[in-house]
Formats: sequence, structure tokens, C-alpha cells
Amino acid sequence: MRVSLLLPLLLTTWAYGQSTDGCDITTQYLSDPPYDNYFYSDCNVDAQVVITSPLPDSNLSVIGPRVIVAWPAGNSGIAAYFQPQDGPNGTLAIELVNSTIGSPLAVYTDEDSDNDYPYVGVQGVFSFNSSATLTIPILGSVRTIRDFAEGSSTLQPTIQDAINVTQYNDTGASVSRLWLDNVTSSYFNMVPFENENGAIELDLEGRTISFDAGFYHFEAYFNYPQLQQLTPQDVLNEDSQDLIEQQPSQTTSLSFLSYSEKLVAGAWRFLTYFGRDSMITALLMESVLGTGNASAMEAVIGAVLERINRTDGSVCHEETLGDYATYLNLQNNITGEEATAAIFVYPMIDTDFFLPILMDIYFSDHPDRIEPLLSREAGSIDTANENLTYADLALLNAQKVVNNIAPFIDNQTVENLLHLKDGESVGQWRDSSIGLANGRIPFDVNCVLAPAALRAISRLAETGGVYPNTTSRTSVLTNYTGWSTIAMEFAVTWEENTLPFFELNLTAEEASSRVNSFVETATFYDGPSNNASLSTYANSPDDTITFYAIALNGSDSAANDTETYSTPIPILHTDTGFHLFLLNLTNTSSSEYAQTYTRFLNSTAHSILRAFPSGLLTPSGLVVANPALSDSEELISNFTNSDYHGTVIWSWQLALMAEGLHRQLALCNASSDFVPAHCQDEYVYNTTRAAYNVLWDNIEQNEAQLQSEVWSWIYDGDSENNGTSREGFTTTPLGAFGGTESNVRQLWSLTFLAVTRDEEYA
Ligand SMILES: *[C@@H]1O[C@H](CO)[C@@H](O)[C@H](O)[C@H]1NC(C)=O
Ligand SMILES: *[C@@H]1O[C@H](CO)[C@@H](O)[C@H](O)[C@H]1NC(C)=O
Ligand SMILES: *[C@@H]1O[C@H](CO)[C@@H](O)[C@H](O)[C@H]1NC(C)=O
Ligand SMILES: *[C@@H]1O[C@H](CO)[C@@H](O)[C@H](O)[C@H]1NC(C)=O
Ligand SMILES: *[C@@H]1O[C@H](CO)[C@@H](O)[C@H](O)[C@H]1NC(C)=O
Ligand SMILES: *[C@@H]1O[C@H](CO)[C@@H](O)[C@H](O)[C@H]1NC(C)=O
Ligand SMILES: *[C@@H]1O[C@H](CO)[C@@H](O)[C@H](O)[C@H]1NC(C)=O
Ligand SMILES: *[C@@H]1O[C@H](CO)[C@@H](O)[C@H](O)[C@H]1NC(C)=O
Ligand SMILES: *[C@@H]1O[C@H](CO)[C@@H](O)[C@H](O)[C@H]1NC(C)=O
Ligand SMILES: *[C@@H]1O[C@H](CO)[C@@H](O)[C@H](O)[C@H]1NC(C)=O
Ligand SMILES: *[C@@H]1O[C@H](CO)[C@@H](O)[C@H](O)[C@H]1NC(C)=O
Ligand SMILES: *[C@@H]1O[C@H](CO)[C@@H](O)[C@H](O)[C@H]1NC(C)=O
Repeated sequence: MRVSLLLPLLLTTWAYGQSTDGCDITTQYLSDPPYDNYFYSDCNVDAQVVITSPLPDSNLSVIGPRVIVAWPAGNSGIAAYFQPQDGPNGTLAIELVNSTIGSPLAVYTDEDSDNDYPYVGVQGVFSFNSSATLTIPILGSVRTIRDFAEGSSTLQPTIQDAINVTQYNDTGASVSRLWLDNVTSSYFNMVPFENENGAIELDLEGRTISFDAGFYHFEAYFNYPQLQQLTPQDVLNEDSQDLIEQQPSQTTSLSFLSYSEKLVAGAWRFLTYFGRDSMITALLMESVLGTGNASAMEAVIGAVLERINRTDGSVCHEETLGDYATYLNLQNNITGEEATAAIFVYPMIDTDFFLPILMDIYFSDHPDRIEPLLSREAGSIDTANENLTYADLALLNAQKVVNNIAPFIDNQTVENLLHLKDGESVGQWRDSSIGLANGRIPFDVNCVLAPAALRAISRLAETGGVYPNTTSRTSVLTNYTGWSTIAMEFAVTWEENTLPFFELNLTAEEASSRVNSFVETATFYDGPSNNASLSTYANSPDDTITFYAIALNGSDSAANDTETYSTPIPILHTDTGFHLFLLNLTNTSSSEYAQTYTRFLNSTAHSILRAFPSGLLTPSGLVVANPALSDSEELISNFTNSDYHGTVIWSWQLALMAEGLHRQLALCNASSDFVPAHCQDEYVYNTTRAAYNVLWDNIEQNEAQLQSEVWSWIYDGDSENNGTSREGFTTTPLGAFGGTESNVRQLWSLTFLAVTRDEEYA
């Protein structure tokens, strides 16, 4: 495998300006070779333009000359794939240039159109270094573009056949398409620009367009309802406005991903609602995000409530909008007015729990926002939720949470733990089939999210105004005397009884031998085993290594054998960070649980203090999963440095762990009568504090990557140190291993705007 050994250097510039009619303009440029990203927002439109030209070392079967225009409105977009007309592949380069039209982008509007929604978009000038042919245009939805770019070059005739190629403005060409809704049209127009010799030639039959080398003025626009972007000032709360000057690139990106109706997950491939991404971001960034009417916090909570499944209270994972929604609906024989309705899916089991947790945090600081937010009528986006208020939907979600966890209260068996949904191979953030090693009972959902959501529901019930205050409701539980008490009792049962299902112990000697065999077995790592750290960071006095399974097997095929069914899968992981971040020992915790919890915290700190592969810490960051203690060749081959949820580093997981450790340390400084057990145990406290600092030193070393979503590393201990490697590790983009194209900006990779090091614990 040949991979580029250098992380792309992310160059960025941004600018704020104003148009003649007083409309604020924000632009941003992010270079991420071979991709050049240009963002443009004003009061008419929000757009991202991505220009791709192959680099000398690009894999030409994946990277070709391409122009993409993407709009969050409807998750819409245009893609134009070009080829060199005469030269070999790899020789054609496209560039967006500053001109009298824009620097480089400007808005496009057509005031005269008589549509319900005016034509809006962007325009500018691009250049070809040699003659080119536009071979494949795609107009409509970003999802259609992704199917082509990431799938097996799939194109749907019902979509492609509607493309018109016509002459435009005498010397130019226009590519256009009427969407399947019969109302919206997308246009991509190109005209030679100050280009005496340059010319465009149309092959109307083959629907290709040929270009001489030179400059071309382009326009890309459509007529579809636009979103209302939140400015950097609006996205951040009053106390955090300084960030706009301190971190202009990140705050500009955060603004581009934030709209009054929702926050979107990533640019350009995920310019839509994702429940988990937006709620985890809001939880980690709550200290800096704006609050109140039309704020970022209410955009997140409102978007989630709006999309709840009214039949069972599930929180929506992902939405499908615009032309692609119409395409899917027509495939399912849904016609007429409903043919254009957005589609919402509910495959996840973690997402339901984040909502009450987030509502609790927000409403406890802003009780005055309960009534205005929850009295809002649903149905503007998810028409199925017409005639319900956000309060109704919040109650449906709480009922689902309580009902689903109830069986475990009576009988604390592995069968009564929460499982992935039948027929789904994923269900929490490790959203790939082997991300949980095929386990079906995930650690995070059972040990953290369920009890944390119950505690939140209990507090929300006490707050008043969130859930109806009645004792006659039978749909939650038949014997029910008040949400607050019951939800808290349930929370404690879950919290105190779930960790033991996942707990694993190895003697330090056995652990050491497993790590040694990992180093011999793994194809992607042959460095030191660092196994001396296993006896340094083990339980005292019995020299045991305690860790927590990423999931329990829980599979149907194991259902008849209780032992196999409940097998903890021995992958060391970072989901322990959720626990530190969302749950605390309280004055009602039993003394037995206080011990269990203290062992858990100690084990989590140890997993950070031990260097990979004995622990999680590499010089490139904390890996989210590590199979070195598993004693399984299969797991070792499934959790590699090229797997999406393998021995790779995710930015927001670093923030989660750092903030989780911080919260546990801060409890020891709090001026409350209750002092958690770990604060009284000098060894555990000091270990937690050491882990916090080791982690932050490592995060600071990896500052260049923190805004990427996920990255990896290559171990080559023998290579000459060329300045990019630390202790034999070279940080590497995951895409370099042949994965899919990544988003230059991802919402939940901006969390270090809010999560910072606290020197008090240095
Ligand atoms: C050049 O690239 C295009 C698009 O990927 C491909 O269809 C074509 O076969 C390539 N031509 C050569 C000569 O490799
Ligand atoms: C294009 O204009 C922008 C905004 O004025 C400026 O930041 C950028 O440097 C210019 N680019 C070039 C290549 O001159
Ligand atoms: C494309 O051409 C057809 C046939 O002339 C026409 O009905 C359709 O409206 C055109 N589409 C666009 C977007 O102009
Ligand atoms: C659009 O028009 C075509 C042809 O008249 C029709 O078959 C189709 O059902 C219409 N689509 C929608 C979403 O109404
Ligand atoms: C097409 O012509 C119109 C009217 O002259 C002009 O405003 C527009 O800029 C031209 N479009 C392009 C892409 O050159
Ligand atoms: C909503 O939940 C019900 C019950 O679980 C399910 O049958 C239905 O398919 C869900 N709706 C959607 C849009 O998935
Ligand atoms: C839609 O209708 C067609 C024609 O009646 C049928 O062949 C197809 O199976 C239907 N598709 C679905 C998803 O129901
Ligand atoms: C909402 O109420 C109106 C009026 O009673 C009714 O026509 C409509 O079907 C309802 N919508 C839904 C989604 O139940
Ligand atoms: C608890 O569940 C186990 C296993 O399913 C079952 O054998 C046992 O009878 C249950 N106990 C009660 C009290 O329901
Ligand atoms: C719920 O109602 C009871 C009885 O009317 C009252 O004592 C209690 O304060 C109410 N709780 C809230 C949160 O409004
Ligand atoms: C409801 O639960 C309480 C406490 O567990 C119990 O004392 C009471 O008998 C139950 N009531 C009914 C109607 O089951
Ligand atoms: C693991 O070992 C610790 C002592 O080091 C012990 O307290 C705990 O109960 C053990 N857990 C399991 C699942 O055996």
C-alpha cells in the first residue's frame, strides 16, 4: 500500500464584507489538496464550491478534475466532471480565480423570476490549463452526487435523462435539470470570459461540452427555499464573542454549518441534520454556544424534537431532503403531494438518550426558555408531526426511554440490557459493521446513556413545565406516582448494575503476553509493546488489569448459550469518556458502587497513561479502539489503523475524554458536602490528574489535526526520522488508506473551540 506520508496542510483565509445593498457577505477558503474549498454566504444564499485538480501523486482512478457546488438548502448540489481533451489523465487542472465577477465567488440572483422561490446561487471565473471536456454533469441532490462519487459510479436514468444541454449567451453553454418535483430547476452555465481564443463547443447529441484552455465565467443556481444561517455572533453566546477574533477560521466554519432550523453535520457531503452529531456537539460546546430564541442551542434541540417519530418516540438519526427524497418516494410509489416529503430514519439506539440529557442541561440554565421552545408547533419540516407541539414530542421521547429500560429494573439480566435494533448492524456512534466487533449490546448506551438520560428526565420532571404533571398517565408505567422519583430510581439501578457486565480482568502477566502476541500478529504495528506499563498501571495490590468491553456479544446466534451471549468483547476503547463526561457519583450512590466506579475511573486513567499497544495513547493521539488485549487474531485484523473505528483517532472523542476527566477532577474541588470516593483516594485522584495532563500534552502535540474528523498513523520505527514522525509514528489522513473522500469541515470536530485545558490541574 502506497500512502502519502504528509498530512495535507490546511491553508485557510476568510473575509467578511458587505454588498451594496447592505447584505453581509462571509467567505472562506480552505485548501485541502487535491481539494480547494470556497465558502460563500450572504443574505441570499449559502454555498460551498469544491474545485479538484489531480496532484502528481494522485490516484487517477479516484481523483479527477471536478467542480462541485453544494448548498445546505435541500442538501442540493451540482457536480461537473471534466477530462483532458487531448492530454493524458492527470494533466488537466482547474482553478477558481479572482476577477471582476467575484473574489473569487459572488452571489447570483435573478430577481425577475416568477417562481415561488427566486433563483439564487453563486458565480465566478474558473480557468482550464488545457483543453477540457465536461463528460458527466450531475444536478439536483448532494446525495445523488455522493452515490456517484462514493458508490460504484451509479447514475439513475430518471435523474440523468432530464439534463438539458443548450447554448447560452451566444458563446456559452448551459446545463440544466428540472427536479423530480416538477418545480425546482438547477442550472450550471459557462461562458468564455475575456477569452479571445477560448471557445466552447457543444455536442448536443452526446450531451458533452468541450472547452479550449482559458477562463470561463460560470453561474450555478437553483430555485428552492433557503435556510437562515446563524452569523458567528449568533452562534456563540455573549461571553464567547472573543472566539470570533481568536479562532476566525473555526468560528466561520461553525457559522456555515449553523442555521436557525438545524445545525448540519459536515461540508460538503453531509449538509443535513444528523441527530447524534448535532447533540454531541451541543453537549461538548454548550459553554460557548448561543442560547435563547433562534440560537444555536435551540436550533439543535428544536431540530431533534421536530423530527421525532410520533409513533414510538424515537429520535431521528438522519434526514433525506430535496430531489433525492422525491427520487426515493417515487421509487416507493409515493406520488402526489407526498412525493416531495422529506424522509427521516431511526436506526440508532443511542440517539434517543442524548435528547433528555441535552434538554436538561439547557433548561436547567434557561428555565425561561422551556415554555417558548416547547410550545412550538411541530410539522413544518416533518409533516407527520402536524398537530403536535414540541412538548408532546419531548414527552413521547421520555416515555420511550423509560419504557425501554424498564424490564432491567425488575430483572437485571443481560437479555434486559439494550440491544441494537433487529436487522441493524449499527446503533451507536461506531457506525460501521465491525465498529462494535459485531457485538449487539454496546457499552456506551447501557453503562452511560441510559442512566444519564434517566437522571435528566428525573430533573426535567422536577423542573416543571417540561412534562405534564399528572399521576394518571398510564402509558409510561402502570404504577406511576411521579416521574421524578421513578426516573431517578431507575437511573440508579442502571448506573450501579451495568458496569459489572462489561468489566474484564487480566493478570498483568497475561495482559503482557497478549500484547506481545499482538505485536507479532498485527500487520500494521511492529514497534515496542510498552508492556512494562502494564505492571506500572495495574490495580493494586493484586496486579490486575481491569478494562471494559466495547460491547457484549448479544447476538441471535448465541442466544441459546447464555455464556456466549453475554461475552464481553475485549476491545479497549474510549467510550469510557462518555461515563466521565455524563455521570457522577452522588451522595445516594451505594458504597459498593462507589468502589466499582473508582475502579472504573482508575482503569480509564490507566488506559491513557499506558502507551499503545498496552494502552490507548499513541504520539498521534488516543486511539478509539485497541484490540491488543483481545487475544484474537480476528479482532486484531478487524481493528487496524485503516479501519474507520479501529486503532484511529477521532477529534471529538479526544475532547470528550479530556472534558470527562476534567469534570471528575473538578468534583474534588467543588464546595459541596459530598466528596466522591475517588477524590479521597490519593492514588486514584493523582492518576486521574496525570491522565488529564498526559492527554492534554498529546492533544497540544496534535493541534494541526484537531479539526479533522478522524485521522490515523503509520508506524515505521526504522525509517530515518524525517521530522514528521514521533517515536516512529507518522500521523496520516485516514483517506490515504483508500477510504472515502472526507469533509473538510465536520461539525463535531469544532468542539475544541469550547473544550480547553484547565491549568488548575497542571
Ligand atoms: C481517464 O479518466 C477517466 C475518468 O476517470 C476514465 O474514464 C478514462 O478511462 C481514463 N483514461 C485513461 C486513458 O486512463
Ligand atoms: C482573491 O481575493 C481574495 C479576497 O479579496 C483574497 O483574499 C485572495 O488572496 C485573492 N486571491 C488571489 C489568488 O489573488
Ligand atoms: C429541458 O428541456 C425540456 C424539453 O424541452 C423542458 O420541458 C424542460 O423544462 C427543460 N428543463 C429545464 C431545466 O430547462
Ligand atoms: C412530475 O410530472 C410528471 C410528468 O407529468 C409526473 O409523472 C410526475 O408524477 C410529476 N411528479 C410529481 C412529484 O408530481
Ligand atoms: C449571460 O448574459 C447575461 C445578460 O447579459 C449576463 O448578465 C450574464 O452575466 C451572462 N452570463 C455569463 C455566465 O456570462
Ligand atoms: C416510526 O415508528 C414506528 C413504530 O416503531 C415504525 O413502524 C415506523 O416505521 C417509524 N416511522 C418511520 C418514518 O420510520
Ligand atoms: C411500485 O409499483 C410498481 C408498479 O406497480 C411495482 O412493480 C413496484 O414493486 C412498486 N414498488 C414498491 C416499492 O412498492
Ligand atoms: C392535523 O389536523 C388536521 C385537522 O384536524 C387534519 O386534517 C390533519 O390530518 C392532521 N395531521 C396529522 C398529521 O395528523
Ligand atoms: C429474570 O430473567 C431470567 C433470564 O431470562 C429468568 O430465568 C428469571 O426467571 C427472571 N426472573 C424474574 C424474577 O423475572
Ligand atoms: C405536580 O403536582 C403536584 C400536586 O398537584 C404538586 O405538588 C407538584 O409541585 C407539581 N410538580 C411540578 C413539577 O409542577
Ligand atoms: C405501586 O408501587 C408502590 C411502590 O412500589 C406499591 O407500594 C403499590 O402497591 C403499587 N401500586 C399498585 C396499584 O400496584
Ligand atoms: C476485577 O478485579 C478487581 C480487583 O482488582 C475486583 O474488585 C473485581 O471484582 C474484578 N472484576 C471481575 C469482573 O472479576
